[in-house]
Amino acid sequence: MKIPQDKIDEIRSSADIADVISNYVPLRKRGKNYIGLCPFHSEKTPSFTVNSNLQIYKCFGCSAGGNVFTFLMEYKNLSFIESVQEIAEQYGIKIEYEEEAFNKQQDEIEELYDINLVAAKYFSENLFKKSEGESARNYLEKRRLKVQTQKIFGLGYALDSWDSFLNLAKSKSIDLDKAKQIGLIDVNSTGGYYDKFRSRIIFPIFSPNGRVIAFGGRIFKEGEQGAKYLNSPESKVYHKRSALYGLYHAKESIREFDKAILVEGYMDLISLYQNGVKNVVASSGTSLTDEQVKLLGRFTKNIYVLFDADAAGQKAAVRSIEILLKENFEVKVITLPEGEDPDSFINNYGKDEFAEKVKNAASFFEYQVEQLRKAGKLDNVNDQTEAIREIVKNVALVKDVLRRTLLIKSLANKFGLREKLIESELEKIVSPKSERIIKPSLIEAEKQVVTIDEVKRIPELEREIIKLLFEGDSEILGLILDEVHDDDFTVEGFKILSSMIRSEFAGNKNVTTSYLIEKIENPKLKDFVEKLLLEDDPISKKMWEEYTNEIVLRNNKIIFAQDVVRRFHILTIDKTIHTIQNELNAEKDQSVITELLQELDALIKEKASLRNQHENS
Ligand code: CTP
Ligand code: MN
Repeated sequence: MKIPQDKIDEIRSSADIADVISNYVPLRKRGKNYIGLCPFHSEKTPSFTVNSNLQIYKCFGCSAGGNVFTFLMEYKNLSFIESVQEIAEQYGIKIEYEEEAFNKQQDEIEELYDINLVAAKYFSENLFKKSEGESARNYLEKRRLKVQTQKIFGLGYALDSWDSFLNLAKSKSIDLDKAKQIGLIDVNSTGGYYDKFRSRIIFPIFSPNGRVIAFGGRIFKEGEQGAKYLNSPESKVYHKRSALYGLYHAKESIREFDKAILVEGYMDLISLYQNGVKNVVASSGTSLTDEQVKLLGRFTKNIYVLFDADAAGQKAAVRSIEILLKENFEVKVITLPEGEDPDSFINNYGKDEFAEKVKNAASFFEYQVEQLRKAGKLDNVNDQTEAIREIVKNVALVKDVLRRTLLIKSLANKFGLREKLIESELEKIVSPKSERIIKPSLIEAEKQVVTIDEVKRIPELEREIIKLLFEGDSEILGLILDEVHDDDFTVEGFKILSSMIRSEFAGNKNVTTSYLIEKIENPKLKDFVEKLLLEDDPISKKMWEEYTNEIVLRNNKIIFAQDVVRRFHILTIDKTIHTIQNELNAEKDQSVITELLQELDALIKEKASLRNQHENS
């Protein structure tokens, strides 16, 4: 079933985003935007912004953003197609479906999800309905998981067989190559297929929207060989770096309490959940990644790190703390008695003891001090200096100035040191370079820009041009795309965006902001553009005012766009002039010097002519 692209465009442009969103989120008007409390993370002052002109929304707190379809997908856990259907229904637009399946890419991914779902149902039936499932049922009972809990997490059992899933797949005409792609089956040396998961308890891994994206399988029989857990490979539906086990089940509760507990294992998470502690996610043994932390950051910025009480667990905890601090999380650490993990702890000690542990959680740096003390690193003055430095390194990761100041105070108290001492230690670490993080929307590539004085304003102008492009006025789009080439941008990310818009514009007359936003593949760039469009950007405001003052009566966006492009050209010429001047200084060969001078002359004339255009317009 496919909805024709034209229809999707029609539906997108018929909807009013403020109308749609206000069905779910109370909005009030502020300036040209609407604002409200963000439904995707918990907050007390509104940073969720909806713009009716551009038909997009953006939360400046958690970075959630997109168009009317994205909103429904995220808010109501719908697929893209479902969100299109819902809007169509609301606006009384009739959809005529095309015969063949979705577009190829989408189609393939849907098929992978379907296969995972078939497998998940199959594993679950093995566990709950088949006589062969008895040993698995006994094992889970021994692990004190109630049947109800097992069902909530979709647990299953992979039979002790080389081909039972394979046979099911064949009988359902599943594309075996696709089943192999997602790691359910594999090929042996003679080219025959076989089941990957055999004789294991199955833990399906869900996307934040509840679709099955992968599986973890645990061995459980006495004397069984092989890795304790077998996990699905990376695939088009399973991106390990950004998957967080349990998030789908935990997200409501995380939002409600505005805090999350981070554990290592599947069993830890499920046990806590069964005991009423539902705001839990698991890193599933791998070390926590930036992507996972960013994802979680959309639900809360408060986290309790709760890792196993063994050396490996504590090491992983320390690494995770750094990543969390970098993403501005308020980090606390819960420590368990030797030999326990969260699952064993809650089963051995009960809920109340667990709640007590959470209540008494240490701040990340109290925890760090404790670790250093245990390692004997606080015993003499030399080691202690080293230890304080270790801790200050983490304090330096905290971007919020107020929080950092408070941490310095507690640190000073703890060690009986003067705050100044810690501050000066901190300053050594927070070099001017890392302080550049002031503007978080600055994308990575932007830092590569040449920083000679004359061209300092290029990124500003480039940003302005990108902003104009994404505002989707076709006259302005035509104007800019004619005059500015993708390679004129010095910022790598802008080249990508400009080339994307160019090809969209070539193939489609109807390039609105909300359409273009949907087409940005790189999430960092998407976030950047959304912020750029809605942010009350002091730079463009200044430029715009400067401009409108100059020609108040012709306060006109098109002229503004022309002027921005012209300024950009002038600065690009300045950059080249600067380079040539440097070359001239170093050059000895008279004939080369003559050539360079001619070039310089031409550039200066071109610049003058651009300046004139400006004055005459
Ligand atoms: N893990 C893995 N592969 C392994 C071992 C562990 O992927 N070979 C991941 C799993 O996600 C596991 C987590 O790391 O849940 C933590 O490992 P561990 O503490 O060894 O397992 P538990 O979750 O405690 O499982 P159990 O209580 O059943 O031993
Ligand atoms: Mn365990």
